[in-house]
Amino acid sequence: MAQDSEKRSILVTSALPYANAPLHLGHILEHTQTDIWVRFQKLYGNECTYVCADDAHGTPIMLKAEELSMSPEELIEMIYKEHKSTFEDFKISHDNYHSTHSNENKILSERIYKSLDAKGLIEKKVINQLFDTSRNMFLSDRYVKGTCPNCGAEDQYGDNCEICSATYNAIDLKDPISVLTGTEPIIKESEHLFFKLSLLKDEINKWLDSSKIQEPVKNKLNEWLEADLKDWDISRDGPYFGFKIPGYDDKYFYVWLDAPIGYLASHLNYLIKQDCEKDFESFWSKDSATEVFHFIGKDIMYFHTLFFPAMLANADLKTPNGVFVHGFLTLNGEKMSKSRGNFISAENYINNLDPDYLRYFFASKLSTGVDDIDLNLDEFKQKCNSDLVNKYANIASRSAKFINKNFDNNLSETLDCPELIKEFKVTSQKIADHYGKLEFSKALKEIMLLADKANQYVDSKQPWVLMKEEGNEQLVHSICTTSLNLFRILTIMLQPVIPGFVDKSLRFLKEDKIEWSSINKTLLNCKIDNFEAIVTRIDDNHLDKLMGN
Ligand code: 2FM
Ligand code: ZN
Repeated sequence: MAQDSEKRSILVTSALPYANAPLHLGHILEHTQTDIWVRFQKLYGNECTYVCADDAHGTPIMLKAEELSMSPEELIEMIYKEHKSTFEDFKISHDNYHSTHSNENKILSERIYKSLDAKGLIEKKVINQLFDTSRNMFLSDRYVKGTCPNCGAEDQYGDNCEICSATYNAIDLKDPISVLTGTEPIIKESEHLFFKLSLLKDEINKWLDSSKIQEPVKNKLNEWLEADLKDWDISRDGPYFGFKIPGYDDKYFYVWLDAPIGYLASHLNYLIKQDCEKDFESFWSKDSATEVFHFIGKDIMYFHTLFFPAMLANADLKTPNGVFVHGFLTLNGEKMSKSRGNFISAENYINNLDPDYLRYFFASKLSTGVDDIDLNLDEFKQKCNSDLVNKYANIASRSAKFINKNFDNNLSETLDCPELIKEFKVTSQKIADHYGKLEFSKALKEIMLLADKANQYVDSKQPWVLMKEEGNEQLVHSICTTSLNLFRILTIMLQPVIPGFVDKSLRFLKEDKIEWSSINKTLLNCKIDNFEAIVTRIDDNHLDKLMGN
């Protein structure tokens, strides 16, 4: 447990969801991974703040708003409310959920841009781009399709070919067509601003060496670094929904410039709400002793490990201490796809099942690996029923009834088996280490081994047999008290993963506030509550409903 002197001060983020669609279970996987880590850090006694925001800028959001006959501001306001409430439903404990379309983000984006510019790291270049004359707008890669210049495959996007994997410039596509209007775009010149990443290779390397990054991710980054870094186009011409670049009338920051700055902006907004705005500069100063960790999916590594640290370092701000990358979520072994019917929306899940089942299942699959995680529904049902119902909750239900019925809800003054309690306490350090290292799957395996031991203990003592014979009351009382203390330790250990079920358990144990160090306490000679079911079984009906059947 963290003593005051060694308390860490940590800021944690999950990737910012785009404000143009409801959340899906992929978002929930990432936020659950982050949330478990955050809840663990808090339980362990560290100072930990978890911030996030909606990623509110860019062409897709502008076009989506148009499609819905709304202003982009109205759209992002509506989606913001939906996202916030869905995250609350899944018990994601953000300390602050903000938007990148905010005053704080505008100020910070301009500040960082100006620092880069002052250091000579912004270069103007005239580039050729495809331009849709009927919409009067430049077309980004996703809004143009044509024939691959490499293999001749038709109907390919403007950045790369799905058939031969070649990457190219959109203006090299043959027979390009605007996805927006179906018309043939023209090639038009425009001045763009570039962040000179190519000059910062050594700096990025230094950051990589001093940061917590998983080995496979490091290898990928080294590959990119060896292949030479390209300067990064950070501007977009209007019409665009974003922040105007200072000094320009119709140029905007590319959404990926202000999106990660949104992490800082959400933190600033949080501090303002706490009346602690003054702490922002020292928190984010280069020599700050605070720690910042970003949780992201493997598709956005480039932005978080190259552009973002390079931007922060050159704006004289603190760079991240680590970036934790996870794989994608698949469903029953296949890519999640709405059109192919292999899809569960966050809303559909929450309308049918308690979020803690999914949190438990995800945690049982999560480690420091970057492999994809499969939500196999049969395995999901089987694991939750076996671990949460048959193992964890069973310990309480089989012991509580004696305490409730025969001992007036009072725990005994002594334990029947203090050695077993001691073993649980000793193992707790190993489990804390697993949580701290993001090895949730290992943590849960250890916890379930302990749950097995607790059940074996009750099986071997057979209080239901003992109770039939007079004179065994005191023994049964201390057996059930031991078993409920084992259950209590497991409850504390499981708090980061299944906070809702744990709240029910804590109400039953009449415990208000727990910390990781509460594991060392033993409940003796005190009242508990009447037992009520903590976790119920998942059945096939639930699964059918999840899939929308
Ligand atoms: O890929 C995405 O969904 C982006 N909206 C993530 C942004 S994360 C951060 F950089 F803002
Ligand atoms: Zn091709």
